[in-house]
Amino acid sequence: MGEQKLYVTRREVFSASHRLYNKKWTDERNVKIFGKCSNVYGHGHNYVLEVTVVGTVDPDTGYVIDTKELKKIIRENVVDKMDHKNLNMDVDFMKDVIPTAENIAIKIWEQLENKITNGKLYSVKIYETENNYFEFKG
Ligand code: NI
Repeated sequence: MGEQKLYVTRREVFSASHRLYNKKWTDERNVKIFGKCSNVYGHGHNYVLEVTVVGTVDPDTGYVIDTKELKKIIRENVVDKMDHKNLNMDVDFMKDVIPTAENIAIKIWEQLENKITNGKLYSVKIYETENNYFEFKG
């Protein structure tokens, strides 16, 4: 029998503002591509983040990763840095990208990948609205 892999997901929420804008383009082109998401003074979202870790169950603890530990890693490295912030201006690890949900998922992955040592990071899923979600698997 192979390894029994188990997937553990922790959900967190945060609120943040952003503006979708490519500074290489004219304002006209930005409005054409991004529409109202290019509004000069930004707009906000209530983001839902789901982080999934995959691993085998430790026979001593019965855990893949202690969810208290996973919660702490996500809060310290992601939520505390993004919640109630402007993603274009306030968040160091977002500064070189347009803050679409796609890029947010990738950047969150990069923040977490090396921090998770019990099990392995499997996916980062970000819900920007009730109807859209974006998933990165490394
Ligand atoms: Ni938006």
